[in-house]
Amino acid sequence: MKLLIVGGNGTIGKKVTSYFSKKNEVIIGGRTSGDVTVDISDSSSIKKMFKETGKVDAIICIAGEAKWADFNEISEEDFYIGLKSKLMGQVNLVRIGKNYLNPNGSITLSTGILADDPVVGSTSAAMVNGAIHSFIQAVVLEIENGIRVNAVSLGMVEDSYERYAEAMPGHNAISMDKVVSAYVKSVNGSGNGQIIKIYN
Ligand SMILES: NC(=O)c1ccc[n+]([C@@H]2O[C@H](COP(=O)([O-])OP(=O)(O)OC[C@H]3O[C@@H](n4cnc5c(N)ncnc54)[C@H](OP(=O)(O)O)[C@@H]3O)[C@@H](O)[C@H]2O)c1
Repeated sequence: MKLLIVGGNGTIGKKVTSYFSKKNEVIIGGRTSGDVTVDISDSSSIKKMFKETGKVDAIICIAGEAKWADFNEISEEDFYIGLKSKLMGQVNLVRIGKNYLNPNGSITLSTGILADDPVVGSTSAAMVNGAIHSFIQAVVLEIENGIRVNAVSLGMVEDSYERYAEAMPGHNAISMDKVVSAYVKSVNGSGNGQIIKIYN
């Protein structure tokens, strides 16, 4: 298989890339590193990336940002960061990427536990995660050519414990093996329209 992994050099992405690289051709997309550069918050950049990659069998997105801030201080502009990057960035990867997928290909997006178990400071991140979950359920009613679309929704991952533990009290760290398995289930399994939740 030929796979495109956007965010394939990130904390989660590098573990997923390492797994799939063993038996597949993997193209890594990223803002500052990778085989192709892309900023998913800009749809013209996504189009340019797909012109470079050509057709692929699977698209995995493990990228996208949202602003963490106290709701009493977060601005409208702050909310637009998550809407443009993590939400519309991933929606546009599906919208544009479906034309660059071979028949029966798959698209896997990334969300997270904040959709179901938010913490203080996560209004924007929780909101965009929940929106992607609804998008996934709706898009599979219409997408053609046998293309499957799923999301992997993770709890705080082991390799990010230092970064998030204080902000997410009582949340369990998810082992990187379980993290990789969730992406394998989406890509190599037959599920469609699934939100693959790995929360402990
Ligand atoms: N870490 C966790 O515990 C956890 C849990 C649940 C969900 N998630 C979600 O999973 C995703 C990845 O998390 P992570 O911890 O692996 O993040 P990370 O270590 O910061 O890595 C993110 C990767 O995505 C790339 N990227 C970021 N914004 C991009 C953009 N606009 N266009 C293209 N590439 C972009 C980055 O490239 P550059 O470095 O070149 O910018 C980097 O390679 C995020 O959406 C995060 O919210 C993470």
